[in-house]
Amino acid sequence: MSAKIIDGKEIALSIHQEVRTEAEQLRTQGITPGLATVLVGDDPASRSYVKAKRKACEEDGIQSFHYPLPAETSQADLLTLIAELGADPKVHGILVQLPLPSHIQENAVIQAIPPHKDVDGFHPENLGRLGIKGEEALFAPCTPAGVLELLKRAEVQVSGARAVVLGRSKIVGLPAALLLLRNDATVTVCHSRTKDLPAVTREADILIAAIGRANFVNGEMVKPGAAVIDVGVNRVEDASRKRGYRLVGDCDFEEVSQVAGCLTPVPGGVGPMTIAMLMKNTVRAARAQASN
Ligand code: GUN
Repeated sequence: MSAKIIDGKEIALSIHQEVRTEAEQLRTQGITPGLATVLVGDDPASRSYVKAKRKACEEDGIQSFHYPLPAETSQADLLTLIAELGADPKVHGILVQLPLPSHIQENAVIQAIPPHKDVDGFHPENLGRLGIKGEEALFAPCTPAGVLELLKRAEVQVSGARAVVLGRSKIVGLPAALLLLRNDATVTVCHSRTKDLPAVTREADILIAAIGRANFVNGEMVKPGAAVIDVGVNRVEDASRKRGYRLVGDCDFEEVSQVAGCLTPVPGGVGPMTIAMLMKNTVRAARAQASN
């Protein structure tokens, strides 16, 4: 192996420490940062993500308000709940775990979250501001914000670098591209219709893999010495594990680690950063709302 492995767990721990200090400071002013988590349905992956987010709240001194709702919850009822949370001064951030059941329009729900409580950064106002240089985005989406933080703490030069993002979802690919652009990278976004993908990815000084396909990026797709950030979290069957599966990223770790200059592992790379950045956004929301 030649690549330096970027330890997301350790970097996330130092961010949680910063959050704890900020939360304590806010409490001395009589403000306890609060995050509402809304989970519709019982998708096991979503349930475990929300559980991890609530645990982080508890550890970091953030009050968590949890709303587990049945899968058949109507869009109207969900919008009513969001309006209540929007008006509740104890709730500084609102997180609706995605994906939502298919009878609910995701965009309508996201747009109902007041932008100043949109700690996920998915509201069009926040996403739009992210794309406009000079505009202050209230919140950057947590996973791409974590990606940029990993690059920064691994001392990867972003300004002037050629960055390739695999995937264009609103959760990762699109905001990651906007954040890289904001930080003066030259950015290419690839997706399922991109032609001759390996030729494009081999140009990348920074490669962000966020397509959700296990082991998709092989060694031949990577420029020697590139910084590779693997955002994928894919379950693959593994009879040797008690739970019957293991988690792998979008990169073939064995191959890519022979070629890349640095690489994030899965698990233990981007995953812990997403939660750390959510906590950071929540104390930021609390501070901003306290001063208004
Ligand atoms: N589903 C997968 N990632 C995320 C995330 O960062 N936020 C929310 N709300 N849902 C998700």
